[in-house]
Amino acid sequence: MGLKRKDLLTMEQLSREEIDLILHTAKEMRNVLKRDIKKVPTLRGKTVVTLFYEPSTRTRTSFELAGKYMSADMVNISATTSSVVKGETLKDTGQTLQMMGTDIIIIRHGMAGAPQLLAQSVKAKVINGGDGFHEHPTQALLDMLSMREKLGEDFTGLKVAIIGDVLHSRVARSNVHGLKKMGAEVWVCAPPTLMPPGMEELGAKVTYDIEEALRGAQAVMMLRVQLERQKAGLFPTLREYSQYFGLNSNRLKLADPGALVLHPGPINRGIEISADVADGLQSMINEQVTCGVAVRMALLYLMLGQKGE
Ligand code: CP
Repeated sequence: MGLKRKDLLTMEQLSREEIDLILHTAKEMRNVLKRDIKKVPTLRGKTVVTLFYEPSTRTRTSFELAGKYMSADMVNISATTSSVVKGETLKDTGQTLQMMGTDIIIIRHGMAGAPQLLAQSVKAKVINGGDGFHEHPTQALLDMLSMREKLGEDFTGLKVAIIGDVLHSRVARSNVHGLKKMGAEVWVCAPPTLMPPGMEELGAKVTYDIEEALRGAQAVMMLRVQLERQKAGLFPTLREYSQYFGLNSNRLKLADPGALVLHPGPINRGIEISADVADGLQSMINEQVTCGVAVRMALLYLMLGQKGE
């Protein structure tokens, strides 16, 4: 059974059943990743393009490896080295790629809604690899896969604390949608200047107190301080931010013993997370990276590898 949708644009759109299907498939893909020779012929003859208008290490590389492990033909396009710099529109770029025989386009874009626009403009399938401050659905899926490996498949009543720059975080928004659908109790915590309105409406509990967010949490998801947005003056100094909203080993003791520590990466060591916590036994950060490949293999398989679809 594949996904019954052309595109994967948001966690908001996915049903609990679809999330379950993706995560179960990703668990199988983890087994492929454990083999010495990871290559399977599943996507032979399919063409996957990554079209990234913003920098990325994890998302782009994991999609590329996922496609290669499944024998797809992979092409990477960066906006900075393509005809985008000559003024080509997203729609024209998408149609150009489609006319070359592309089956699926993975797009990252600084504008919220760009993947939706592309999806409406091309017959090729589209996966959102992160759009502005809106959503990053494949990150939320890999976060949930990482959590499932340690905490089991039932998230009912699980307390998950998402802490940091919620305002600019597409990861936070996708995780709130996804985790709520899977039954978790989701807390978001940020300085008031970095907390967007409307989080309660999405079903999250809001706090400005990191200790309240951490107390009894089974999973703690730290968000990157977006240093490139520091000039906006949304908090006084990085030192103060770290003092009030950074995760260190003392603070982590407020969470459940053995609580998982997640971070989508890239991390700012010593700012939102101390180095000993990032490298500690409770850290899932490296595991998340591997789960990212498995989730992206699962999505390519479910969207391209199904006969008759
Ligand atoms: N987590 C994440 O999206 O990382 P990249 O920006 O490196 O893809």
